[in-house]
Amino acid sequence: MSSNLSPIDTAKFVAAKRAVDFIEDGMRVGLGTGSTAAWMVRCLGERVREEGLKISGVPTSTRTAELARQVGIKVVSLDEARWLDVTIDGADEFDADLNLIKGGGGALLQEKIVATASDMMIVISDSSKQVEHLGAFPLPVEIIPFGWQTSKALLEETLASLDVLGQSGTLRMNGDSPYVTDEGNHIVDLHLQRIGNPRQLSMVLNQIPGVVENGLFIDICDKVVIGHQGGRVEVIDINEGTHDEGLIEFAETDNLFTDI
Ligand code: 5RP
Repeated sequence: MSSNLSPIDTAKFVAAKRAVDFIEDGMRVGLGTGSTAAWMVRCLGERVREEGLKISGVPTSTRTAELARQVGIKVVSLDEARWLDVTIDGADEFDADLNLIKGGGGALLQEKIVATASDMMIVISDSSKQVEHLGAFPLPVEIIPFGWQTSKALLEETLASLDVLGQSGTLRMNGDSPYVTDEGNHIVDLHLQRIGNPRQLSMVLNQIPGVVENGLFIDICDKVVIGHQGGRVEVIDINEGTHDEGLIEFAETDNLFTDI
């Protein structure tokens, strides 16, 4: 394998390349958001263009929709597709139960809706996202703009009675203004350090008025594909209880690196 990609991009790329092997003709595919998911969209686009693979893609953000169209994937809305065969997305953290923290890229709401509406969710990742306990990565919580300061205070107050180490939140910014999601909402990032009970935390956070959704994905992910910089790929399947390994070979002449 040879490439000018950085080690981290190589890991993301090989995870993406392996994950798109799971996609078959006729499938309706949820397309995640983020730098790893972008590799997956490019790899899928390559299969569409070169093999004539026929799929419909449901993007989880305007960014992903734009890239998917650019690489030749037929884009449909979730309302058109209704239910999906598989969603492939990145993650900010995953644990041994394949519970996830997502939303670092700000698309957690559409990502959770799309992944939940899929028969299977596959996460693609480099090995840095694998953790023993979720929570070192700040947990994104999407809140509506109305009364956001009250919602943030309520979130912090609620954390005091939960099994987490940190209790502070910060409003995500985009320069001098609050970050705005595709749904017109804001995001508060919760600095928890360690989450003792992700399932309980997820349920409690979603009870707070003003909270639309949180970035914990509990019992949603079925497989994780972990890429390594040398091209090695691990596939963990939580339902089958399997852990397989393989090697992805690729050449830097691949169209993926030049034509997008
Ligand atoms: C976007 C997400 C991303 O999947 C997550 O942030 C990982 O991103 P990247 O692949 O760029 O590390 O949840 O909302």
